[in-house]
Amino acid sequence: MSIISSDIDMAVSILNRNELVGIPTETVYGLAGNIFSESAIHKIFETKQRPLFNPLIVHVHSLDQLLGLTEELPDKAKQLADHFWPGSLTLILKKKAIIPDLISAGKDTVAVRMPNHPVTIQLLKRLDFPLAAPSANPFGCISPTSASHVDGYFKDSIEMVLEGGDCQNGIESTIIGFEQGEPILYRLGAISREEIENVVGSIQLKNKDDKAPEAPGMLSRHYAPRTKTYLVRDVSKALEEFSDKKVGVILFKRVSNINADKVIILSPNGNLKEAASKLYNTMHYLDTLELDAIVAEEFPNEGLGLSINDRLRRATKDA
Ligand code: TXA
Ligand code: MG
Repeated sequence: MSIISSDIDMAVSILNRNELVGIPTETVYGLAGNIFSESAIHKIFETKQRPLFNPLIVHVHSLDQLLGLTEELPDKAKQLADHFWPGSLTLILKKKAIIPDLISAGKDTVAVRMPNHPVTIQLLKRLDFPLAAPSANPFGCISPTSASHVDGYFKDSIEMVLEGGDCQNGIESTIIGFEQGEPILYRLGAISREEIENVVGSIQLKNKDDKAPEAPGMLSRHYAPRTKTYLVRDVSKALEEFSDKKVGVILFKRVSNINADKVIILSPNGNLKEAASKLYNTMHYLDTLELDAIVAEEFPNEGLGLSINDRLRRATKDA
């Protein structure tokens, strides 16, 4: 067990020793370390069993702190930061030499965000360095949305998880990069494409290429429960095929006539933001029930429904 505590002083002293702390954010919990400590960064990769080619997100408490890390801030990046920070938006920007190559996996860019969580903002203000923090899950597993999820994953291999309650958004940040100053969507996440386009006009999607992932969050299998998971249009029909099996079902909103061993409705009134916030917690929970299968219904292909479908699709891929 690691210590689960809301003691910020303790987190500060552990991070100053270049050890790791699980930190709360409004998206998912992160596994945090000093960006300037080679040993801390190595520990992040080892603890997560994450391949070294997959770069880390840097967390800052202010725009000023960001400006010390990046070479240039395109106008549209500034607009997005002004509008969404602190919040669930990660910007990929040209990095200054001060960012270690280990963080950026050798790229000339760095991913940065200002999280919208009071505990972690306080923590960042107490430190002399920004925090690198990938999601606090072993590579390929579901991201954690509570301190106990993090402890369940890493036990003794980290000293402390800083308690910050359940994550409000419950799904990772949306990632935006820039080409010639124009925004490119790298990863769907807690902020919808429409919300971003309302601020900076139309944006393009990054081409996906599994073999040379530009943002390896785009690796196709990711965020997966241990239980075999299926994403379907017609849940009743899928359940007929599983009639002899113990099945858990994930539904968007209230419906009648779905009979399975466990049925979870993410948002009875059909609110996509509420559904997104409960998705991972539900997957963690269903994964504890020793089911034969999890059947999830396809969400509406709009707003955060796109982010939810993206994560569900990855959860259904074979390793
Ligand atoms: O909500 C979040 O973003 C959470 C919380 C803890 O902040 N963090 C998170 O980190 O999801 P992680 O490491 O699990 O996902 C970050 C993604 C990875 O897919 C990585 O490949 C991509 O960001 N990334 C990081 N730096 C990049 C860069 N310079 N260029 C392209 N992609 C980058
Ligand atoms: Mg992750």
